[in-house]
Amino acid sequence: MNIELEPNERRVRTRYNQINQIWEIDDSWHQHSFKSSRKLVSRFFDKAHLRGKTVLNLGSGDTIYDYGATIINLDLAEKKLVGLKNAVCGSAHNIPIKTSSVDAVVCAGSVINYCNAEVVFFEIARVLKSGGYCYLEYERSGSFEYLGSQGFMGDIAVVSANYAGAKEVVWAYGDSFIHSMINRSNMQCVRQSWFHIISPMIFKLTKAPRISAKFGIFDPLLNHCYLTKWAGNFVVICKKNGMMEAQ
Ligand SMILES: C[S@@+](CC[C@H](N)C(=O)[O-])C[C@H]1O[C@@H](n2cnc3c(N)ncnc32)[C@H](O)[C@@H]1O
Repeated sequence: MNIELEPNERRVRTRYNQINQIWEIDDSWHQHSFKSSRKLVSRFFDKAHLRGKTVLNLGSGDTIYDYGATIINLDLAEKKLVGLKNAVCGSAHNIPIKTSSVDAVVCAGSVINYCNAEVVFFEIARVLKSGGYCYLEYERSGSFEYLGSQGFMGDIAVVSANYAGAKEVVWAYGDSFIHSMINRSNMQCVRQSWFHIISPMIFKLTKAPRISAKFGIFDPLLNHCYLTKWAGNFVVICKKNGMMEAQ
């Protein structure tokens, strides 16, 4: 691969090239994340009227979206891109795509938790056309499972999580920090939602991911209540300021 990578990007690329299944069937916690994400992404394609438009799937892994749009799949890990249409191997920190060239960006599955969020936001805003939309999902520093740990509710917290059979260290973000990134990169938040709302609380008490994940079924009921303050995952839909450019 002909791109210059930072040590952290190299580590992430090696790890994802080795992971066979990003969303393991037996891992009920991440299965709930995956299903919630698919549902919300599908709604995003629908509400943002993306049929026939060009959408960048940023940090695509091997997840394929097919909602009648032209999808550009970009990921660091080249093995994840095998067989995907319009595959681009590259980094979200330096997106190898022209300025103002896509109608929407989908960045699902905690991609920015591996990244410098500030850099990625500016890159997303750069490649989006004016008036274009972005779907972004991340793991929160305010998740109840981190209560009592350093960085809880902070702007950027270094956290350790179990994923794909190993412990990994990622950055978790605070909502006000992400909102300030959105504003600074010339975008505005138009909608938000949460998932894994009470499951992190149950996890904190039981340390049992399987049992805790079952409580994800209450997410749709809890999306407008105070408990979202301690949810594990946040989804924000933002819009780049300005009018949508003519096709
Ligand atoms: C948990 S997977 C999510 C995959 C997919 N978005 C989904 O929702 O199914 C995270 C993905 O982010 C990719 N990734 C992490 N850092 C990246 C970066 N700086 N640039 C591009 N991709 C990155 C990884 O290689 C991995 O495929």
